[in-house]
Amino acid sequence: MRVRIIGSAAGGGFPQWNCNCPICAGAREGRATPRTQSSIVVRSGEDPWYLVNASPDLLRQLAELPTDRSAGMRSNPIAGVVLTDGEIDHTAGLLLLRESSAPLRVYATAEVHASLSENYPLLTMLEHYCGVDWRPLDPGVATPLEGTTLSVQTFPTGGDAPLYMGEAPGPSAIGLTVRDAATAGTLVYVPAIEALDETVSARLAEADTVLADGTFFRHDDLVSLGLGERDSWAMGHAPLTGEGGTLEALAKLDAQVALVHINNTNPILLEDSAERSLVEDAGLVVSEDGMEFEL
Ligand code: MLT
Ligand code: MN
Ligand code: ZN
Repeated sequence: MRVRIIGSAAGGGFPQWNCNCPICAGAREGRATPRTQSSIVVRSGEDPWYLVNASPDLLRQLAELPTDRSAGMRSNPIAGVVLTDGEIDHTAGLLLLRESSAPLRVYATAEVHASLSENYPLLTMLEHYCGVDWRPLDPGVATPLEGTTLSVQTFPTGGDAPLYMGEAPGPSAIGLTVRDAATAGTLVYVPAIEALDETVSARLAEADTVLADGTFFRHDDLVSLGLGERDSWAMGHAPLTGEGGTLEALAKLDAQVALVHINNTNPILLEDSAERSLVEDAGLVVSEDGMEFEL
C-alpha cells in the first residue's frame, strides 16, 4: 500500500491565519515549512485512492495528487472517504466534494455519522447534492475498502467530543489499522491519542508504519503562549513530552513512526529548534505535506 500525507498540520494549518506565535512567525521567516490541515490518502497498488479525513484544505490537496484523468469528462481522484472523528478540521472538506457525480462513499462510525447528520449536518446537506453512501465502521470489524485490497479496523483512542456538540455527548476519536491483503503491510493512523493505553499500544505494536498524534509538545503549549485556556489533555491529545507524554513509547516501536496533526504552536515545526532535534534524535519523523510511505 501507498500512504501519502496530504496535510500534516492540525486544525488551523501552519502558519495559522490569525496567529503570530513564535512558531507561526518562524514559518513566515522561512524557518519552517508551511503545512495544510490533517489528512492522508491510501491506496493498494494502482487501485483508487481513499481519502482518510477531509480537511478544509482539500481542494488544494487534491490538486497536488497524481490523478488519472483518462476515464472521461468526470474523473474522480478518490473512491471514498474514511473518517476518524467528527471534528471540523477532519470533515469540513466533505462539502467540497459535493460536485461528485456519484453518491459520496463515506466510511464512519455510527456516532460520527449521527453527529454529522444532526448536530453539524454535513451528510444531511450532501444528500441534496451528490448523495451519501454511508459504510458503517463497526468496532472490532475489519471493513474492506471497496475496489482495493485494503481493510480498515477501528480502535478507540479517547478524546473529547467536538466543541459544536455543546453539552451533548458526542463521538470521540478512533484510530485506524489499515491492512493490505496483497502486501501484508499494516499502517496505524492515530491523529488523536488521549492516552497510550493497552488497546492503543497493542495496535501500535502490530504496525509497519505509524502516523501518530504530534499535536502538542508539552501539555501547556497553547496555555503558556497565552493563546488558550484548554490544555492538550482538555483537547483530547496527549503531549509528546512531560507526564503522560507519548514520545518515549513511540520511539521504542519497531515501526517507522511519523508525527502528524502537528499544531502550529508545536516547536518541533521549527527546523532549528531543540525540540525538533530531540524528536528526530529519538528516531521519529516530523511529517510534511507530500510525504509518502510504501508498505
Ligand atoms: C482536535 O484535534 O482536538 C480538534 O480538531 C480541535 C478543534 O479544532 O476543535
Ligand atoms: Mn484536529
Ligand atoms: Zn501559531
